[in-house]
Amino acid sequence: MDDETSDGKRGTSSIVQSSDGKRGTSSIVQSSDANRSIVNRSIVFTEKNFAPRTSHLARIRYLCPMITHEKITIAVDGFASCGKSTLAKDLAKSLQYTFIDSGAMYRAVTLYFLRQEVNIYDTEEVSKALEKISISFRHLEEGELAVTFLNDENVEREIRSKDVSENVSLVAAISKVRRFLVAQQQAMGKEKGIVMDGRDIGTVVFPDAELKLFITAQIDVRTQRRFDELQRKGIEMTRPQIEANLQERDRIDSTRKDSPLKKAEDAIEIDNSALNRAEQLELALSYVKRVTVERLNG
Ligand code: DC
Repeated sequence: MDDETSDGKRGTSSIVQSSDGKRGTSSIVQSSDANRSIVNRSIVFTEKNFAPRTSHLARIRYLCPMITHEKITIAVDGFASCGKSTLAKDLAKSLQYTFIDSGAMYRAVTLYFLRQEVNIYDTEEVSKALEKISISFRHLEEGELAVTFLNDENVEREIRSKDVSENVSLVAAISKVRRFLVAQQQAMGKEKGIVMDGRDIGTVVFPDAELKLFITAQIDVRTQRRFDELQRKGIEMTRPQIEANLQERDRIDSTRKDSPLKKAEDAIEIDNSALNRAEQLELALSYVKRVTVERLNG
């Protein structure tokens, strides 16, 4: 149901029912730009069964049973270190979907090129090198997230190194590399029930994805997040180095000729600068729910 509030904001509300028969009303109110959801909480839940102070976790548990029975494809795009992978992983876990980090695939190719000293400006050499590359994601332990393998070697840690980070955007700008990886990504998403994060997922890899999210965050927030992540992994990089790397990658990623990073027209933008992990997940799940309810209503 489409509604307009007295102050001109538009939104949708729908009656929803959980798998255990509880009924409630979900309302989504958006400010001026229909595809933008800004941190000032443009979303309102009014499910009647929520106690006023229900925790985020409880809300998430409540949302999931309703939206897991019909699998969709979720594309998560955005700039470097915006929390795309964190959100995509959390969504996949909540919905029991497959998570694919497409950036890890570009990083694995970059690692191979660096090790083999492939001249990235020589298309013949690039093609020959690609023939020798096999990338897979494997679960080392049950319930754990899959890690990246390059030709049967676990490279999860090495693909996050400074060297790879500094070269990956150049490698990702090569059309042959993109064609090679996009074909594999599309094959992985055939069965739906997938959350993939990257730069061109909503525009090129899955242009028909039922839900496209475009994640943004302020540069200082992104720098701090990457800094914390690298510290946890024991990788030494200073904040200025990280910020310079993020900005340079964004520049190359958004200005390259082949499938540049851009928001798909039908993507929903989420600025998560002031959102914590649970709030970001809750917001994204509300969009999954909206898509699912719309599909069920035909
Ligand atoms: O998400 P990430 O930072 O790990 O991605 C590494 C690089 O790979 C990034 O600089 C751009 C590129 N990339 C891309 O061009 N297309 C994708 N779908 C994913 C990543």
